[in-house]
Amino acid sequence: MKLSIIILAAGLGKRMCSKLPKVLHCIAGKPLLKHVIDTAIGLKPEKIQVVYGHGGEQVINTLDDLPVEWVQQEQQLGTGHAVAQAIPNIADDNMVLILYGDVPLINPVNLQKLCSSPTSLNVLTTKLDNPTGYGRIVRNDKGQVEAIVEEKDADFKTKIIQEVNTGILATQATKLRSWLANLDNNNSQTEYYLTDIIAMAVTDNVPIHTNTVSNKYEVMGVNNRLQLADLERYYQLQQVNNLMLAGVTVQDPNRLDIRGVVKAGYDINIDINVILAGNVSLGNRVTIGANTIIRNAKIADDVEILSNCVIEDVVIETGCKIGPFARLRPETKLAEQVHIGNFVEVKKSTVAKGSKINHLSYIGDSEIGSGVNVGAGTITCNYDGTNKHKTVIKNDVFIGSDTQLIAPVTVEDGATIGAGSTISKNVAKGTLALSRVEQRSIDGWKRP
Ligand code: UD1
Ligand code: CA
Repeated sequence: MKLSIIILAAGLGKRMCSKLPKVLHCIAGKPLLKHVIDTAIGLKPEKIQVVYGHGGEQVINTLDDLPVEWVQQEQQLGTGHAVAQAIPNIADDNMVLILYGDVPLINPVNLQKLCSSPTSLNVLTTKLDNPTGYGRIVRNDKGQVEAIVEEKDADFKTKIIQEVNTGILATQATKLRSWLANLDNNNSQTEYYLTDIIAMAVTDNVPIHTNTVSNKYEVMGVNNRLQLADLERYYQLQQVNNLMLAGVTVQDPNRLDIRGVVKAGYDINIDINVILAGNVSLGNRVTIGANTIIRNAKIADDVEILSNCVIEDVVIETGCKIGPFARLRPETKLAEQVHIGNFVEVKKSTVAKGSKINHLSYIGDSEIGSGVNVGAGTITCNYDGTNKHKTVIKNDVFIGSDTQLIAPVTVEDGATIGAGSTISKNVAKGTLALSRVEQRSIDGWKRP
């Protein structure tokens, strides 16, 4: 049966105490709603509709590249009213699955199960020690579901029921359409409750099927920042567990955060307080030291990254050694066996095989050949206040400490630059370039 998914995301999210719409708050750096949409896409439906309301423009602008249809709910008159905004766009023969923009970690396997019985109304439930606030699943003495009763409409006997409605349900479009048309708002909140369709289904002799989820995190909604933090921790631990099971040693699973997708080889070792973000791929035997942040990087085998490095949008080839305290900025490419040491910043530069930049340097907009040694404190002066210029350093060059290379400038193969030089002209192949004042000694000098 064809599947159509409706994601409800029109609520205000008052308890977040935020100017940002609730569904744009993030888990692992990704908006709650995007988690839900990504899961929905994974189910390969005919159509995904997102019902938006509060902060809608901002939500759409943030997620506008996703393959979903946006349906406005002008006034938030309840979950039933929200679904009613989207149901006209769904063909009769579809199965409809209702998801929530603020329930981000739903398990696709459970959703598939929920959508597999086309003739019934399928409700995803869970059992909670403290069911306060949730709609209760009311069953008859044969155990069949009779209704869902909201907390605010529940009597004492109903309130002690621990099986609750997660809100997620699936049923055939034709039936859903007719039930929605009959909803009213005669309840304590004067809202059109989606949950009222359960009692209607009972009246219509449509079987109610429940799937019960045992892992509460998979159906937990986010209403405040405490719940957001709870889900973040749960999600992080899942991801780190997966990495460990795939052959990565993580010194402390509670102190590695993954905010994106990590592809990892074997025998990697990750020390504490590391953040991996975006798309990170790590080769075999890579080691990452404590307090390092890596975003969007391709790191080959046997690379050693020491502590306190910040690395973004870079490619690092086999056997490089980075840090401690190194910063690699976007569009940097390091070939095999390159060493980047402490307090070195490299931006938009390529460094060829075996070259070393070990101490206190800034290398920007540069092309560095192989076998080059860049002395401590070397700076490429790439910016003239208006434009950026390129520094080219060819193979086997030796750059003495405290050199400034005023770009655009080229240093040819095998050249040597004396320490403390300011290089403003090209340096020819194999020559020694010096630009410093000769040392003088004044005899008998007395301090003032
Ligand atoms: C709802 C269920 C309850 C269930 C609980 C699970 C109903 C009537 N009740 O209650 O049985 O236990 O979820 O969390 O369905 N929304 C809209 N438009 C609206 C109203 C809500 O888009 O007009 C969206 C909200 O953004 C939210 C979701 O629907 O994502 C649930 O709404 P909420 O008001 O939080 O429902 P609950 O009272 O929690
Ligand atoms: Ca809720």
